[in-house]
Amino acid sequence: MSHQLVSIGIIGIGHVGPHAANSLILQGIADELLLCDVNESKLAAEVQDLNDSVVFAPHRVVVRNCHADYEQLAGCDVIINAAGNVKLAAVSRDGELFATVDSARTFVGRLAAAGFEGFWVNVANPCDVVSAEVHRLSGLPTNHIIGTGTCLDSARLREVISLTTKLAPESIQAYMIGEHGNTQIAAWSAISFAGVPMKNVISKPGFSDLKPDDVQAKARDGGYVAYRGKECTEYAIANAAVRITRAILHDEHAVMPGSVWLDGQYGQRGLYISVPCIIGANGVEDIVELDLNDEERAGFAASCDAVRANTARLAP
Ligand code: LAC
Repeated sequence: MSHQLVSIGIIGIGHVGPHAANSLILQGIADELLLCDVNESKLAAEVQDLNDSVVFAPHRVVVRNCHADYEQLAGCDVIINAAGNVKLAAVSRDGELFATVDSARTFVGRLAAAGFEGFWVNVANPCDVVSAEVHRLSGLPTNHIIGTGTCLDSARLREVISLTTKLAPESIQAYMIGEHGNTQIAAWSAISFAGVPMKNVISKPGFSDLKPDDVQAKARDGGYVAYRGKECTEYAIANAAVRITRAILHDEHAVMPGSVWLDGQYGQRGLYISVPCIIGANGVEDIVELDLNDEERAGFAASCDAVRANTARLAP
């Protein structure tokens, strides 16, 4: 019997990269992890620690140290881009703009030249702008690049709603859409509980305590609650990247929000930004168009403009 090993690359072994690796190992998703970072001693330490942990994993995994020899990742199924400098994001994720784009420019083109034809899951911030840059440099179709985007903020939104309603977050369908940044919005009118729309339950006990502005602010600010205490976020974002990776590798056709290329959907085109989409073996299989009200549609359009303005700051 012969079968193909699942090989996943991770570039950037700071805070998020090692947690993504650990999550991939513990969930039994990868057979082989190829890790890259320019910081040799940190990378060597993480490779040692992760390999030491493999005995506790559901199956064998080999963790390899690829340093900045990016071409070694050319045969990977998925590469997670977690290369950033989170200290620059103290006020806004936009603080990382030039660092993360410069960094992506050091490896994405090399991987394209080496024949990488897999999928990029981009974590680096500002997520929407960097996802577009990864796409531009990769030479791959747009469906091969997915930013974690508001996959994470939507998890935060479901968690906030869950704390008030006492419903399990996985039983709540709720999406933050737009920029993975300060202009993102809650698609409030599209929230549902097992198919029952928010407007049908909002007056019921538990639900009537939900204040839309408050809930949206908490979901939007969750990253900064974590950041203020430890100068990074790591577990949730790593698990969001792994969730998307898993949906690709198992051809799940699962609906989740992610930063994806819009070509007319929601009246927008020519940018990566987060909306719910269907993730499967072809990456972004399709985009889900929520039925937004006028206010939400305007908020989403403003968020698209913020991403365009940020993109315009980049040197070609
Ligand atoms: C966060 C980072 C990943 O929101 O932007 O946690």
